[in-house]
Amino acid sequence: MNRIKTIFFFSALAAFLCVGYVLESAMAQDKEIQLPQPKTTSTVSLEQAIAQRRSIRSFASKDLNQEQISQLLWAGQGQTSGAKRAAPSAGSLYPMELYLLTKDGLFHYASDGHKLHVLGTDDLRGALAAATGQSTLKDAAADIVIGGVSARIVPRYGERGMRYLYMEAGHIAENIQLQAVSLGLVSLPVGSFSDSEVQKTLGMPPECKPVYIVAVGFSGSEEQSFSTMETTTMQATTGGRGTVKKSTAATSY
Ligand SMILES: Cc1cc2nc3c(=O)[nH]c(=O)nc-3n(C[C@H](O)[C@H](O)[C@H](O)COP(=O)(O)O)c2cc1C
Repeated sequence: MNRIKTIFFFSALAAFLCVGYVLESAMAQDKEIQLPQPKTTSTVSLEQAIAQRRSIRSFASKDLNQEQISQLLWAGQGQTSGAKRAAPSAGSLYPMELYLLTKDGLFHYASDGHKLHVLGTDDLRGALAAATGQSTLKDAAADIVIGGVSARIVPRYGERGMRYLYMEAGHIAENIQLQAVSLGLVSLPVGSFSDSEVQKTLGMPPECKPVYIVAVGFSGSEEQSFSTMETTTMQATTGGRGTVKKSTAATSY
């Protein structure tokens, strides 16, 4: 009898927790976060950002603030003139979607309105690292997954539409990397992963496939952190060639 009571108790507890979890994620999904207005001025020149961009695989354990997140997502897919976005898009069809993973959860970026849809409150960076086999992704403050919806572009351009979609992912990733430098952050573009594992980890809709990931955060090594002052000094001492100290963490990929 006691055994039946125990089984009943644990089944009821499991059902209760399950309902609680479903309700909590449903509530989280209704939430939106308005991001701060992005800035369009900086003390770091475009040339300095290009010269200093490196793929960095060592991140400090420090979170990004909302201003930094706002700026990075805006650089990737923010609206810059009416519905036109920061990155070019073949035929202005905008087939790309950005997902953001931080310690606070999983978010979808809405270009229109410059806001985040909260998709969940679990930290999925470790799961993303496992899904990609790239441990760096769990250490970065933010992982931005760039997804592509081929159905938005292939009907107009046929097979070539896929080529355009991949090109667009490259534009977006580069914008994010350059913006990261301008903010004194470091980043890593990641293209090697199992699409299905990443899609499953994020719960992306079937029509949206992960194409590229950019990990962003503070440098885990002082050698790799670029402040505006260092930028200026480097510019002066290297004649603008932008030679930076080689990262010890970097591996050839
Ligand atoms: C399309 C693409 C995919 C990449 N995928 C990965 C990756 O999966 N993991 C990784 O650690 N680096 C990846 N990288 C980063 C490259 O290793 C890096 O760009 C290269 O070593 C040159 O260094 P730099 O970016 O600092 O100039 C990728 C780069 C590109 C352009």
